[in-house]
Amino acid sequence: SPMLEQEERFRASVQDSGSVSATPRRSRARPPAGAFFANTTDSDPALPEVRWAAQEWVTQPARELTSPELVSIGAVDEVVERGRLAQPGWAERSSAERAAVLRTIADELERRRGEMVTAAAHEGGKTVAESDPEVSEAIDFARYYADRAEELDEIADAEGLSFTPDTLVLITPPWNFPIAIPAGGVLASLAAGSAVVLKPAPQVPGVAEVVVEAIHAAFAAHRAPEELVQIVRTDEGEIGRHLVAHPGVDTVILTGAYETARMFERWRSDRPAGARVLAETSGKNALVVTPSADIDLAVADVIRSAFGHAGQKCSAASLLILVGPMARSERFRSQLVDAAGSLRVGWPQDLGTAMGPLIGPAEGKLARALTTLEPGESWLIEPRQRDDEGKLWSPGIKTGVQPGSPFHLTEYFGPVLGIMAADSLEQAIEWQNATGYGLTGGLHSLDEDEIRHWLAHVEVGNAYVNRHITGAIVQRQPFGGWKHSSIGPGAKAGGPNYVAQLGTWSTVQRPV
Ligand code: SER
Repeated sequence: SPMLEQEERFRASVQDSGSVSATPRRSRARPPAGAFFANTTDSDPALPEVRWAAQEWVTQPARELTSPELVSIGAVDEVVERGRLAQPGWAERSSAERAAVLRTIADELERRRGEMVTAAAHEGGKTVAESDPEVSEAIDFARYYADRAEELDEIADAEGLSFTPDTLVLITPPWNFPIAIPAGGVLASLAAGSAVVLKPAPQVPGVAEVVVEAIHAAFAAHRAPEELVQIVRTDEGEIGRHLVAHPGVDTVILTGAYETARMFERWRSDRPAGARVLAETSGKNALVVTPSADIDLAVADVIRSAFGHAGQKCSAASLLILVGPMARSERFRSQLVDAAGSLRVGWPQDLGTAMGPLIGPAEGKLARALTTLEPGESWLIEPRQRDDEGKLWSPGIKTGVQPGSPFHLTEYFGPVLGIMAADSLEQAIEWQNATGYGLTGGLHSLDEDEIRHWLAHVEVGNAYVNRHITGAIVQRQPFGGWKHSSIGPGAKAGGPNYVAQLGTWSTVQRPV
């Protein structure tokens, strides 16, 4: 069955994304490797010149938006039409030529690193330490998908197949990764030979504009038309729906809530087969720590996974499941409390900030998770509101989270971590798998049998051993989930089949 195939696929990829030891392939033309920003929110000392650059970025004023907000159905139709008209010329280029354009885009993105970081700080509240690696990830996507584009022609020749890309792909990214996620979708589509409409998340349009400026600069250098990548700024109301359901849109790539993905599917349900929604959706991710774990490493990875970007990542750790005696370890508990309590909470314009604000004032289920306890729970550290508006919170950790309780099963997207105490690794895995989601998960253990057992039974797309569970690295850890963490037959982002899925493969009719 398709479900079984999907399971098998993810089983295979779990093996790929195990513990990380080799050097990651993450671009870092500037600053030099090993510097402050080397994809870490931990404590690598800053090189002076890098700190100077970052200080300059975060003190720049917000930029003015340049893309218009589309307010009519007709304007959306025109955008779709322009994209579709531009696409054939792009698809006719050899895949090696498209790859060359993507590599120029990588260089143009690098040149705009500071502008993207600045815009992400102003619009998305992202700290430099969180947004700078996103620029690197976007660059990695450009180079990785350039390689995959080149393969398309090679596969076609070797297998006697021909590949017809989707004409137009719509990318609808979330606000929490305003650089890497839109860039990833757009670049994969360009690699395939498709034209793109990008509908940025309403909170972060300026970040998307810088990404698209980089792409257009590369287009100018390679004489490709700007209409291949157009921004549509609009809401999810009537006009957004018109765009998502548009017959001129072949595929929609969504990263967002599971409910949004289902809604998009409904909006497109009268489309012919193949008019797909590929979605990476919600998560409720747990990190399991067994008694054999290295406590120093585990605490650092828990803190980073739970409180990076104030917990606003689909990949973030929201549950910490401690096994057996680890649940009673005074050393673990005190190190965790010290580490969380030491995080400096503030605004991204202050380079010393370790944890920045929420995207908006805490409300609904998140406000409840930050301010109330359910039966059995108690605060290890109680979160405190630090501003008038309700965007800035200190980190919270609650213990005694009960299996089946709302905290166990609900995605919150904020800086609050819940601890569960399991009798055994089996019970920990059972609770980890019971959330209905299957995006990321982690195990901290130095016992090979435990690691093997966990990898064989955990039901997540990205399983990490002795590593933090956010920040998947292009090519090394292709990213995507199963169960309620994905929709559609989609391949994982930053993985081998992502570009090749954006079109149709058929057998070439050879002359007799
Ligand atoms: N790719 C991101 C991560 O791994 C989430 O979108 O954290």
